[in-house]
Amino acid sequence: MNAQPRVAIVGATGAVGVEIQKCLTTKNFPLSELKLLASARSAGKKVNFRGEELVVEELTEKSFDGIDIALFSAGGDISRTYAPIAAAAGCVVVDNSSAFRQEEDVPLVVPEINGQAALHHPRNIIANPNCTTIITLMALYPLHLKFGLRTIIASSYQAVSGSGQHGISELESQVRALVNGQPVVCSTYPRQIAFNVLPQIDSFTDTGYTKEELKMLNEGRKIMGLPTLQVSCTCVRVPVYRSHSISCVAQFEKPVDVPMARACYVGMPGVELMDDPAKGIWPTPLDSTDGDTCYVGRIRKDLALENALSLWVVGDQVRKGAALNAVQIAELLIR
Ligand code: A2P
Repeated sequence: MNAQPRVAIVGATGAVGVEIQKCLTTKNFPLSELKLLASARSAGKKVNFRGEELVVEELTEKSFDGIDIALFSAGGDISRTYAPIAAAAGCVVVDNSSAFRQEEDVPLVVPEINGQAALHHPRNIIANPNCTTIITLMALYPLHLKFGLRTIIASSYQAVSGSGQHGISELESQVRALVNGQPVVCSTYPRQIAFNVLPQIDSFTDTGYTKEELKMLNEGRKIMGLPTLQVSCTCVRVPVYRSHSISCVAQFEKPVDVPMARACYVGMPGVELMDDPAKGIWPTPLDSTDGDTCYVGRIRKDLALENALSLWVVGDQVRKGAALNAVQIAELLIR
């Protein structure tokens, strides 16, 4: 791979696409050209990138000629259609959708966990995992290395940014409507999200779990190479703008204790402890918002299960849950 690659962002005008541009800048990613791609609606829109004016182009089959890395974040349908076209043009695709995550010859990568996997991408496609899965694993992987992870029982508190710009706009407009005594309009979500919580993310499967809930199981197994990992998850949308929180009980092979668990985070990139209950220190979604770090707190020995810990983790869904993870994967490709 070219050390100064030509990069394209598919979905450049969306919540994640805009954040990818920020990450490329803050990480000083050494690109030689950036192409911003979106729908015809956005073609011609001007965007400032590192002091230079770039013009958004309409995504077409020809968009990838001469591009080395394409970061996709425009939804599963666009990925299914255009990622193979980009890959055939010789471009390595980092795909943020769920379209390819479970395909055997497509690596599913969290750089802090299985970064090596990104280097073998026979189809020229690398999948970026589900945001809730990334943030949960950032908390659990350091513990897994020490104690051996067996089971996860989790509930997520997922921000509206996970539904893209439409989710953010819907929360904002519903809050405005309610404080002004106006009727609430629901379009992105089936029910009111302002001042409410919705225990459904994505569609239901015949297991009774939603597709989002099964991602933690299937993607967790693949990323950590743990085919027998057991996961039971309830995913909940909450009226928070950007960061996801996950409350989770993790059961391990080996006996655990809290000081040993806390020590597991020392020197781990991308994750930090905020865990001092006596001083009222625990992380909230606002603590991780607009940052690269996932924060873990409330670590305690679980009272119900043997060899188990209960904990709370927060992470910026748009950043580590999507854009940052994708840019980190791109960094692995040029290293
Ligand atoms: P556009 O802004 O032109 O609609 P989000 O997840 O925040 O809603 O963003 C979705 C991203 O995917 C946007 O950049 C959006 O572009 C892009 N997108 C949606 N539909 C298409 C399409 N048919 N072709 C290319 N890009 C698309």
